[in-house]
Amino acid sequence: MNIYDSNLIASLIEKDGNIKAETIENADIIIVNTCAVREHAVNRVLSRIDSLKVLKKRKPYIRIGVTGCVPQQLKEKLLEEKPFIDFVLGPDNLRKITSCIKDKNGTFVKLFDTSLYSDLSPARGELPETFVSAMRGCNNFCSYCIVPYVRGKERSRHIEDILNEVGKLGKLGYKRVTFLGQNINNYKDRGKGLPYLLSEAAKVEGIERISFLTSHPAYFPLKVINVMKDEPKIEKFLHLPLQSGSSRILKAMNRGYTQEKYKGIIDKIRTKIEDIALSTDIIVGFPYETEKDFMETLNLVKMIDFDFAYMFKYSPRKYSLANNFIDTVNEETKRDRLNELIRVQSEVIKKKSEANKGKIFDVLITGENEKNYLASNGITLYNKRVIVKERICTGEIVKVRIEEVKGWTPIGTPVKEPGKNVALGLVPNRQKRRM
Ligand code: 5AD
Ligand code: SF4
Repeated sequence: MNIYDSNLIASLIEKDGNIKAETIENADIIIVNTCAVREHAVNRVLSRIDSLKVLKKRKPYIRIGVTGCVPQQLKEKLLEEKPFIDFVLGPDNLRKITSCIKDKNGTFVKLFDTSLYSDLSPARGELPETFVSAMRGCNNFCSYCIVPYVRGKERSRHIEDILNEVGKLGKLGYKRVTFLGQNINNYKDRGKGLPYLLSEAAKVEGIERISFLTSHPAYFPLKVINVMKDEPKIEKFLHLPLQSGSSRILKAMNRGYTQEKYKGIIDKIRTKIEDIALSTDIIVGFPYETEKDFMETLNLVKMIDFDFAYMFKYSPRKYSLANNFIDTVNEETKRDRLNELIRVQSEVIKKKSEANKGKIFDVLITGENEKNYLASNGITLYNKRVIVKERICTGEIVKVRIEEVKGWTPIGTPVKEPGKNVALGLVPNRQKRRM
């Protein structure tokens, strides 16, 4: 979502007559777009902002702005402690960016003006994959989370706006779109939900792969799985944050499901799409998490066999309900639990990657490989990034047999398909397109 917002900002600034600087030292306008989801992210952003101070001293005419969720949370602190910042803008006020750049007194952090930015086209990254925002905000109020307070209420874009955007992307040569929403299962526009959006997007010419993020276990409609199963363009991949394997902790987190319910959803999904790829988010060290609670998380992780997991230490967040709980788990225990969880999950990934050896996957080529110009990067229908040992044009879909696994990355060779000519990547494939 932050990448999407950064691209929205870039397009607004470019439309106003600016061009992208090659280096930060050459830039006249520097915007730091920020995430406040964990303390660690905020600290990194604050030191990044501090590193701009010398630039501003050397070139007082440059404009420095901080956008996104950090100013939404820490406007006063930013403006008081870092006077070299010219303006701050919350995630719902990005339209003001160009006037803030020009206006010497711009400090806007208005929230809840329910911006959808539906009429704006974000700058786009390299072909062939890109994000499309389907909804913004979140109404869930998980007790640890700051997002509903800084990104505002849940709201969905009109389906025709989304499909128009996808249509344009298809014409521009994009092959893969990922729909974004903090809680994408709740997508709703005049009675039409996520299953409808996915099946309509699958009809768009040129688009070959469709993915969506992030699902919530408490609201996951199994109808989505039917669409995923029936529609070959929809990736057989689901990001379903677990957060904890202990029902007691899940209750304290206000997640709206138990360990048993989560397992039940996974079972149902796997009976429909047996080999679906699953990823998750997990927090360790939530207030009152005991060794027993943590063991339940570990056991569940071993049992479910996630293809990937994003794992975090609990970080108390301003505004959130859990900020009032006593942070009972000390830093050392949090760190040990995180390390143990990472160790267990790494073994799962290794085992699953090894099991792919010898298998053939349809791989969408996403670009040249950075380390070997005779190889390409690609992504499978199961959302797995792979290396293909041949230089193939970006956007092609080829069958690849996996031969080895390096680290976690499967590496394979294209399987020759009788009658199919694959365009080799003899032309530069680092193209950028704008809508
Ligand atoms: N502490 C640690 N992790 C958090 N996340 C959200 N809030 C916190 C927090 N306070 C994690 C959740 C979420 C992901 C985007 O970030 O796992 O799914
Ligand atoms: Fe935060 Fe929960 Fe909303 Fe995700 S669903 S953004 S964790 S409040």
